[in-house]
This record gives sequence, structure tokens and C-alpha cells, in this order.
Amino acid sequence: MKFLVFAGSTRTHSFNRRLAAVAAHMARDAGADVTLLELADFDIPLYNADLETAGTPADVIRLKEVLDAHPAWVICSPEYNGSYTGLLKNTIDWASSPVAGHAEWSDGTRPFAGKVVGMLSASNGALGGLRSQSHLAPLLLNLECWLAPRHFALPRAASAFDAQGQLVDASQAAHVRGVVEQVLWAAGRLHGTA
Ligand code: FNR
Repeated sequence: MKFLVFAGSTRTHSFNRRLAAVAAHMARDAGADVTLLELADFDIPLYNADLETAGTPADVIRLKEVLDAHPAWVICSPEYNGSYTGLLKNTIDWASSPVAGHAEWSDGTRPFAGKVVGMLSASNGALGGLRSQSHLAPLLLNLECWLAPRHFALPRAASAFDAQGQLVDASQAAHVRGVVEQVLWAAGRLHGTA
């Protein structure tokens, strides 16, 4: 199963990037073919329909191809002002925009429709960025993603990881593994296990 995980942050010491690395490791342990995507590797401008009309940026097309190629996703969402980040919204808006000359992307729900998506979040606050998930969930459902029922918010993230980047608390690690495994399980049933 091709499994994709990425964080809605490009910050060097991002908790959500660290959590994405943990999820990637767990998915590999479960036998998945894992891509740990870094949004910083994509040169994507702030969305403006004029840019789309002038020709979708090459990195947007590259991102859409990566998303398209993976049936199983986990998104690690930071929380800004009780919601998800502008980076995540901008990325999803571009990724859901149609591309001229690409019939397969004439419908904005692709590459989202049919993907099995699990949500994680991390914050140093007590709620672990949980409120970002409550905003992200309807957006993903609107794009016809299959949202995994399991999700997890990692609180007090500044002290949650050890020096190797692993989660210190075994029950928190079990929650993350539970999300990853459910996403892989559901994607296997929807898309086949290849
Ligand atoms: C935040 N942060 C934050 N944290 C939180 O738990 N709830 C919140 O509503 C907010 N709001 C917020 C707004 C803005 C503008 C910023 C810049 C930050 C803190 C935020 O969660 C923290 O910076 C995380 O470390 C961001 O995630 P990464 O970059 O560590 O993955």
C-alpha cells in the first residue's frame, strides 16, 4: 500500500513534521510503501485564479501527481487560531484546482476523492491542536475523502518526543499507530492491498 504523510508546517523544529516522521516509521513497520512529503520542497505561490489561468505552476502539478499516486494519507495539522494553517489551506486549494490540458484533473475533487485520510495534530497546548482537525475534517469530506474515524491530537508536544524523535509516552504512540493502521486497513479494502 502506498502511504503518504505530510505536515501542514515547514518550520525547522515543527512538532507536526516530527509527528509525521513517527507516523511514516510506523507505516513502514506495517509494511507500507511510505512517502514522507515535505511541503517546503514545493514552490507553490499563494493561490490566485489569475495564476491558474496563466498556467498552473509546475510544482502544483508535481504535488498533484504525488497525491494522486497514494491511496492512503495521514495529515499532521498544526493549529493556528483554533483552525489549521494557511499553508495547509493554500496547498489543498491549489491541489484541488483544475489544470488546463489535463482532463483527469478537470474535476477539483481529484486527487482527493476516494483517498483514505487520517488526521493527526500536535501542539504544545493542552488540546494538541485538536481544533484544527475539527475544521480540516469537513474540508476533506467536501473533497470526497474517506476520513478515518480514528484520529489523535498530541498535547504538550515540546516534551513529547525523545532525542531520537520517538514519542516518549507508549499510549500516545499506540494512538498514532492506531490511526496509521486504520488508514492502511481501510485503503486496502477500498483500493486493494497492492
Ligand atoms: C499558534 N499556535 C496555537 N496553538 C494552539 O494550540 N492553538 C492555537 O489556536 C494556536 N494559534 C496559533 C496562531 C498562530 C498565528 C501561531 C503562529 C501559532 C501555536 C502553534 O500550535 C505552534 O506554533 C506549533 O508549534 C505549530 O506547529 P508546528 O510548526 O510545530 O508543527
